[in-house]
Amino acid sequence: MSVFGFIRQAFANFRNVGAVAGSSHFLVSRMLLPVDFRSELNIVELGPGSGNFTRSILKKMNAQSSLAAYEINDAFYQLLRQQIRDKRFSLKHESATELLQSFAPGTVDVVVSSVPLAMMPSEVKHGILEASAAVLKPGGLFLQYQYSRSDLKLVRRYFPNMKTMFALLNLPPAIIYVGRKSQ
Ligand SMILES: C[S@@+](CC[C@H](N)C(=O)[O-])C[C@H]1O[C@@H](n2cnc3c(N)ncnc32)[C@H](O)[C@@H]1O
Repeated sequence: MSVFGFIRQAFANFRNVGAVAGSSHFLVSRMLLPVDFRSELNIVELGPGSGNFTRSILKKMNAQSSLAAYEINDAFYQLLRQQIRDKRFSLKHESATELLQSFAPGTVDVVVSSVPLAMMPSEVKHGILEASAAVLKPGGLFLQYQYSRSDLKLVRRYFPNMKTMFALLNLPPAIIYVGRKSQ
């Protein structure tokens, strides 16, 4: 999708998209740094949008790994369905709150989330964080970027073992939360 296509979706659905541009290459690389892609991984992506993280994850992960993405926006869902054909990839036109419908507790290695927590109703963000914490294996990684620290405390409630990183080369600059589920 072109930059203009992304902007059109962003303006038409601002509360759900929560950004004016797709993530930069720099943000994507930085956020994926903590992931050991040499291992066999079950990865879940929340809010893939036009697929900047999706393509990079698929490039990095090995043949035994899998990636399942949850996207509620119809235009982004159709785009990814048409453009990404990879046996390791599955795409759900469902809210990230529904994670536990498809994944048993403790079965996922990494959750990569771009959903705009700051713009979401409280019950939706709690639902997403609770489901993410539940599906992760002990020691599993929860990666989320945001443009403000407004939900830092909330994310920490679900992932007490959490650190933050910054991605300045992004529009706007982003904060990355790196949470690890306790063993
Ligand atoms: C900021 S965009 C991220 C796009 C892309 N991942 C990137 O970083 O360039 C946020 C995405 O989250 C999606 N989204 C919002 N709420 C969602 C939910 N409850 N479940 C799944 N996706 C959601 C939006 O439709 C949008 O595609």
